[in-house]
Amino acid sequence: MRAFLISDDAGVLTCTVADLEPTASDVDDLLVQVDFSAINFKDAMVATAMSRVRRVPALIGGVDAAGVVVRSTSDQLPVGTRVAVHGGNMGVGRDGGFAEFVYTPARFISPLPDTISTRDAMIIGTAGFTAMESVLALQDRGLNPGSLVLVTGATGGVGSQAVAYLAALGHRPVASTGSTDETPWLLERGAERVIGREDVSDQPGRVLGTELWDGAIDCVGGETLASILRSLRYGAAVAACGLVSNPELHSTVYPFITRNVALLGVDCVEATGETRSRVWSALGDLAPRIDFAALIDHVVQLDGVPESLELIRHGRTRGRIIVDPTSS
Ligand SMILES: NC(=O)c1ccc[n+]([C@@H]2O[C@H](COP(=O)([O-])OP(=O)(O)OC[C@H]3O[C@@H](n4cnc5c(N)ncnc54)[C@H](OP(=O)(O)O)[C@@H]3O)[C@@H](O)[C@H]2O)c1
Repeated sequence: MRAFLISDDAGVLTCTVADLEPTASDVDDLLVQVDFSAINFKDAMVATAMSRVRRVPALIGGVDAAGVVVRSTSDQLPVGTRVAVHGGNMGVGRDGGFAEFVYTPARFISPLPDTISTRDAMIIGTAGFTAMESVLALQDRGLNPGSLVLVTGATGGVGSQAVAYLAALGHRPVASTGSTDETPWLLERGAERVIGREDVSDQPGRVLGTELWDGAIDCVGGETLASILRSLRYGAAVAACGLVSNPELHSTVYPFITRNVALLGVDCVEATGETRSRVWSALGDLAPRIDFAALIDHVVQLDGVPESLELIRHGRTRGRIIVDPTSS
């Protein structure tokens, strides 16, 4: 099969499209024929010399894949099941989805709802899964339809889908972006309004700012997340899912103890089977109301992956990059 191989020899990185045999890590692994994969911010971190995210010196990249089960030891996932594959070490410590086939343990496979094609599943991918997981976390905490929700990193894979899903569910997303020329695109995706990155910061010298948001989904981290905590309304929550700006967080405890706000962690990598079912089911219910094609930045073949990794590394993409491993 054709596959995109990342190899690091003591800091010298090589990325090539090669002919390789699919390799199982365990006898119970299932084999999935990949229809589509997608490029995520994490893939760019993996395809970096001396990467701290990558766990092995060489592997097939790709933290996302969708396709059809072609070899199975699982009664729940028989041959022919249409699935999304993501999580665990996939594309980080074992072979990933930038290939025509991928082996994986059953627990990282989710059957797709009938309303979601394998192509749409990769427009969603781990980014859209994380966006929906964040929305559900806010709803579990009491977010009601009509609520004003800030989304940061809004033109990215997670951010753009968070905007689209919140709008489709009757919330009022406010998109924060460093790409203000993309304002019309974000309004079309459902943003009530668009603000600049710097506009998230309210009264930065004070421990508490004006109460602005009923909820927030943050892809950025660092000072942006600290500013959000200062600006949440009483009882509101922020779902923290990203770190594109900074992994550090400097905050006082005042937002927590005087405004009763919550900082909700969101992780898709080790999501339980129950969470996976809940999130994919919510995505399946919403799918008929989402214009997935409009969320695609571009589609690449395996040999176009390096150029697209470079674009995502420098924040020069909008929405999702889809990989078609079947064409050459
Ligand atoms: N928790 C999880 O399980 C999980 C799952 C998936 C992704 N993530 C994380 O979520 C984050 C977003 O992922 P993604 O796939 O959406 O990435 P992405 O498609 O590359 O989008 C990131 C967006 O963040 C903004 N941005 C980029 N650099 C920035 C900077 N220095 N300061 C502020 N904003 C910046 C840009 O949007 P604007 O130009 O619109 O500002 C960019 O489009 C990443 O940190 C990723 O690792 C976490």
